[in-house]
Amino acid sequence: MNYRHAFHAGNFADCMKHALLVWLVGALQRKPAPIFVLDTHAGTGGYDLMAEDASRTREAEAGILRLLADPPPALADFVGLVRRIQDGGGSRVRSENLYPGSPLLIRALLRPDDRLACCELHDQDYPALRRLFARDPQTATHHRDAWEALGGLLPPKQKRGLVLIDPPFEAPDEFDRLARGLAAGHARFPTGVFAAWYPIKRLAAVRGFHHAMQASGIRDIVTAELLLREPLDPSRLNGCGLLVINPPFRFETEALPLLLALRDALCGAEPGAAATILRLADE
Ligand SMILES: C[S@@+](CC[C@H](N)C(=O)[O-])C[C@H]1O[C@@H](n2cnc3c(N)ncnc32)[C@H](O)[C@@H]1O
Repeated sequence: MNYRHAFHAGNFADCMKHALLVWLVGALQRKPAPIFVLDTHAGTGGYDLMAEDASRTREAEAGILRLLADPPPALADFVGLVRRIQDGGGSRVRSENLYPGSPLLIRALLRPDDRLACCELHDQDYPALRRLFARDPQTATHHRDAWEALGGLLPPKQKRGLVLIDPPFEAPDEFDRLARGLAAGHARFPTGVFAAWYPIKRLAAVRGFHHAMQASGIRDIVTAELLLREPLDPSRLNGCGLLVINPPFRFETEALPLLLALRDALCGAEPGAAATILRLADE
């Protein structure tokens, strides 16, 4: 396990994943019944953009720092939430250099009866995550393997909820493992909303993943993708996607403006920059 998210925090891929995550949590909260959120690959929870790791890559400059400097109206919920957490809203931490990871973003949105469970396997990253939520009765942290947790922590007693799967894509078979993990999680929690992030380097690998999901027999699958450029060079992160099973009502119409705003703000003028939403399986 070499991947450390601190090097990439707040980059364009985080902005895409987190803007859609904020929308998904909000959509689930349209109904008053409590929700459960499982963040299977949680990271440390939040990142200091001035720390050595992040300042070495400076990826946030082409991501959240650009959005904070000139927030696109369509991304007001996401950018406003980042700003609110930086300002100390929700009280966990306060710093204008903080970039909230998925656990802090989700936590800031929870209503009193909602619950969050976060898993992180890395020995160096887990202690920070545990400290962040040590005295929080609404959030459980687990030093636990994500794929195993999909079996162990699902289904939740709330019966409604979201599972965010955000693997590091270090292993060559990560797309296969993701497809297997989604099938296993969905079998245990068929009514849950599942959101799985993936990188777009080589188009063939992505299309293979789409086909595997279509062949799984799972219904109601949509995928949102943001491309920085045509994916011709497989050594670069050319874009990313978020595959959603059981997308909440209006996902396709309401997520598209978010993606288009991300494309306009974060994708340069390279040919092939694009924002798309594709339905992979009907309801
Ligand atoms: C892309 S990062 C997560 C970022 C986080 N979801 C966010 O949006 O802020 C992936 C994380 O998964 C952790 N990880 C890798 N393999 C894991 C596994 N099998 N189970 C749980 N965590 C794992 C890595 O240590 C890393 O912190």
